[in-house]
Amino acid sequence: MESIFMRKRRIRNEALWRTEIMHGRRDFCWLTKQVQNKNIITYYLDDGKKTAVTETIEREMPLLFKEIRRSGSPDASIAFLPGDEAALGTEGYRIGETEAGYKIESASPAGYLYGMYGLHRLLTAQNETGFPYESVPDQSIRMIDHWDNFDGSIERGYAGESIFYDHNTFRGDMELIRQYARLLASVGINAVLINNVNVHRAETFFVTGEALTEIRKISDVLAAYGIKTYLSVNFAAPITVGQLKSADPLEPEVASWWEETVKRIYEEIPDFAGFVVKADSEGEPGPFTYGRNHDDGANMLARAAGPYGGVIIWRCFVYDCAQDWWNREADRARAAYDIFEPLDGRFLDNVILQIKNGPIDFQIREPVSPLFGALKKTNQILEFQITQEYTGHQRDICYLVPMWKETMDFDTKHGKSLTVKEALRENSPVRRRSGIAGVGNVGMDANWTGSKLAQANLYGFGRLVWNHELSAEAIAEEWVRQSFCLTEEKCGKLAAILTTSREVYEAYTCPLSVGFMCKPSIHYGVDIDGYEYDRWGTYHYADRDGVGRDRTVKTGTSYTRQYSDARFSEYEDLSSCPDELLLFFHHVPYTHVLHSGKTVIQHIYDTHFEGVERVREYQAVWESLKDSLDEESYLNMKERLVWQMENAVSWRDQVNTYFYRKSGIPDEKGRKIYQ
Ligand code: GCU
Repeated sequence: MESIFMRKRRIRNEALWRTEIMHGRRDFCWLTKQVQNKNIITYYLDDGKKTAVTETIEREMPLLFKEIRRSGSPDASIAFLPGDEAALGTEGYRIGETEAGYKIESASPAGYLYGMYGLHRLLTAQNETGFPYESVPDQSIRMIDHWDNFDGSIERGYAGESIFYDHNTFRGDMELIRQYARLLASVGINAVLINNVNVHRAETFFVTGEALTEIRKISDVLAAYGIKTYLSVNFAAPITVGQLKSADPLEPEVASWWEETVKRIYEEIPDFAGFVVKADSEGEPGPFTYGRNHDDGANMLARAAGPYGGVIIWRCFVYDCAQDWWNREADRARAAYDIFEPLDGRFLDNVILQIKNGPIDFQIREPVSPLFGALKKTNQILEFQITQEYTGHQRDICYLVPMWKETMDFDTKHGKSLTVKEALRENSPVRRRSGIAGVGNVGMDANWTGSKLAQANLYGFGRLVWNHELSAEAIAEEWVRQSFCLTEEKCGKLAAILTTSREVYEAYTCPLSVGFMCKPSIHYGVDIDGYEYDRWGTYHYADRDGVGRDRTVKTGTSYTRQYSDARFSEYEDLSSCPDELLLFFHHVPYTHVLHSGKTVIQHIYDTHFEGVERVREYQAVWESLKDSLDEESYLNMKERLVWQMENAVSWRDQVNTYFYRKSGIPDEKGRKIYQ
């Protein structure tokens, strides 16, 4: 008998896929690839136990697997069978073929759910895969952080208003949240933070009263897709909400207030995951106010949450945002390590430190945070930014998976070899309390992410965090195949836009990892000196002789010493410092010759001219795909590419002119640089 897999393959080759707009307004993007087909596959769950997640499977199965069978073909089944926990863990799955169809084995309903999406993906988007196919997530916590405010705005959101809140009410659109949960679960996300880490007055009250009933409704919908709900809390809530005089973590009254508060939360939401805390950072309150340290603050909350299995995710994004720009000794890059490294081993088992990928703030290029590998006795989560704050506002195309992969694969060289992705798991005393989080990029826009292509970042985040072996290229192709109906050649062209877009964005913006140079506060568009004489600690120090931040031990801020010995030597020494990180670590003359053989000034000119040309090529490729794309997606990115072009041109011209005026060195290729 011809196997279903064989049949499927043929259908796929017939290129019958199409993207479907469901429910009138929301684009289900990568979950909607279907062929026209009325038949529905039969399936069964072997253990027969119903949970919210198995009910989700029952509901989703017919929709997702319509395409597996074609009219007139015999019935086929998908069986869900108990799997071996020792091999698959609690969330992994194995897919095999049977006479009648497929079987999915897992040790938990969540694993069945991931298996169901996994099978769908194998059949719709991946190249040939043999069965049995086994997949176990590489990270335990796979999380999306929403920076959504109760008033409906989203801090650093570029896709419309919040899907959770609207004018200081809960939006209450549970169907929308269900669709979102489905999108996330389909790529293996299992945790969501539902409010901004900057907790304003209104959200400070989320930990109490009627808000909890609404949060439970959200949490129930997410839980049906295997997703746990976290809340950001305000460290000063005991004062604002509890009417206490202090929020001092060592004050017994304060600790009891949190205990009571946490108890009430768990009465309302028994499977509540825990808190995320931004303390002593950018104006947020924290333990420093009371002369206490971050372990005092985090452990106090952890004691309150511990009895319920709750965890405290404590962010390491702590630095002085009121620096004197003329003080060259202060270095913002040092802050997280200076504060948290000495606390290694002092946090309770249910505390997790959340560390941004780089030492500054989600720039297009930064070195990896030196805390990875250095923290050896502390649970840890790596934080990426999916929303494109500094990387193009979901106007400019910037597929971030290559950057994330680079960070995860970075060898910290602590010990013989220890990559960041390994350090997360291995240096966390409680492995299931480690993982990777990404600041989310969705909003009320009909295609979720404003830019159609920005969906690839959300998709790619989930896929990469689940499976570290996937390449950025493979993920891009997968997403393209599931989202559009293209020939292999065109699929390749579109995927190539994605996979080159980070280097292109980097080319026309800040050179050689110098960072910032963007418009203050909005963080889009060029303003070379926008932060230069400001308090935020992000300076390029360009003058007539050179550019860059000296962070060496020899002559600079000694930031380089925060790395392992091997990395320290590499970064400290100008001759071994990688080109792309040069201006993060060194102040050099414009005539300094890079490993590439170019001078710094010529590199600046070349990349900025090339960046614009590459965007022009993207426009041409996009036009060539016009007839193969749905109109909405075509117009969506066509418009954005026009904006991207304007942005790239303005970066090119201002950066080139700025450095020409500083250095007085002309472009050796004689291109147009305004005087
Ligand atoms: C950046 C961003 C802020 C955000 C902060 C954070 O500084 O611009 O909007 O609040 O990161 O991560 O807490």
